[in-house]
Amino acid sequence: MRILAIETSCDETSASVVEKNPDETSARVLTCETSSSVKEHATYGGIIPERAARKQIEYILPVVERALLPFAKDSTRAIKEHIHSIAVTSGPGLIGSLLVGVECAKTLSYIFGKPLIPVNHLLAHLYANFIEFDNAETEKREAIEFPFIGLIVSGGHTDLLLYKNHEKYEWIGGTRDDAVGEALDKIGRVLGLPYPGGPHIEKRAKNTASSQFSFRSPLLHSANYDFSYSGLKTEVARFVEKKGTLTEPEINQICYSVQEAAFDVLVKKTVRATIDTQAKSIVVGGGVAANERLREMFGKETINSHFKTKTFFPEKRYTLDNAAMIGTWALFHPDSTSWDEVRAEPEVYFA
Ligand code: KG4
Ligand code: ZN
Repeated sequence: MRILAIETSCDETSASVVEKNPDETSARVLTCETSSSVKEHATYGGIIPERAARKQIEYILPVVERALLPFAKDSTRAIKEHIHSIAVTSGPGLIGSLLVGVECAKTLSYIFGKPLIPVNHLLAHLYANFIEFDNAETEKREAIEFPFIGLIVSGGHTDLLLYKNHEKYEWIGGTRDDAVGEALDKIGRVLGLPYPGGPHIEKRAKNTASSQFSFRSPLLHSANYDFSYSGLKTEVARFVEKKGTLTEPEINQICYSVQEAAFDVLVKKTVRATIDTQAKSIVVGGGVAANERLREMFGKETINSHFKTKTFFPEKRYTLDNAAMIGTWALFHPDSTSWDEVRAEPEVYFA
């Protein structure tokens, strides 16, 4: 089964063609094309929804055509002859952006009579871990064992899920206020770093091996699986305000300490949830999963505690928003919905 997937939940416009590998446990990406309007927003220090939606309209058809081009001379033939189903992000996300992808997918489904699969963007972030490695000929992905603990760390969400099998999952915890990516972006702004702050904080933190500063890891010792990041953001803002001007080495050290505080609680609570539920794997997804320090901290924690559960991270290019993860989720959940019942749902979480 070959799926054409479309993702337009925020500032990325992405289309991808995916299919399952013969062993049925992982997905293969045949094409994945993405255009982004992130640079447009950088000057404003955050996403401007109206601008993001306009860019989605501009990018959507060229991106879909590019994803289909390798299959036939024209995209109509490519869909007719090479695509079995269409998958699309239905939510959560920005309403204007979501509508562009959803309406495009509905139109293609109706015109070509192809089944349509609506996909929850957050769950799809975790399914980026079912995409085979780029160097699949030499390195095979280990199979993810159920039950697994899923940790979603994106710009808008920080959530822990217990995934019992492909069909059944349970939300067990999440952030009470800001998401971890959102906090990193806001802290980046306080430090005068470009938008989005997350990758810039990582880059600056790599310039130092230690820090004279330390920030509190929020809710580290609470007995639940909750997170909270607005306190960390305020603590850093107050610290910066008190200090006045910062030197470049000081900015590097603040970035280092921010990462330690933000990630410590993520790693510890995820590992605790895994032990408590006796899950067999940890699966991490979302933009912040691109961070190498987060990956390293998961590695250290699991080794130090003689913890046997394997932690999975997606290939870096599939951590940020992309259509390949949307298609991959759909490959494992191929039930379709009639095109006229599919809606853009900005607030949908775990349905
Ligand atoms: O998953 P994503 O692309 O979009 C949402 O669904 O929200 O995540 C975007 C978030 C932003 O907050 C960005 O700062 C963060 O992911 N991010 C990172 C890194 N790359 C992106 N955070 C930390 N380290 C990175 N390398
Ligand atoms: Zn996302």
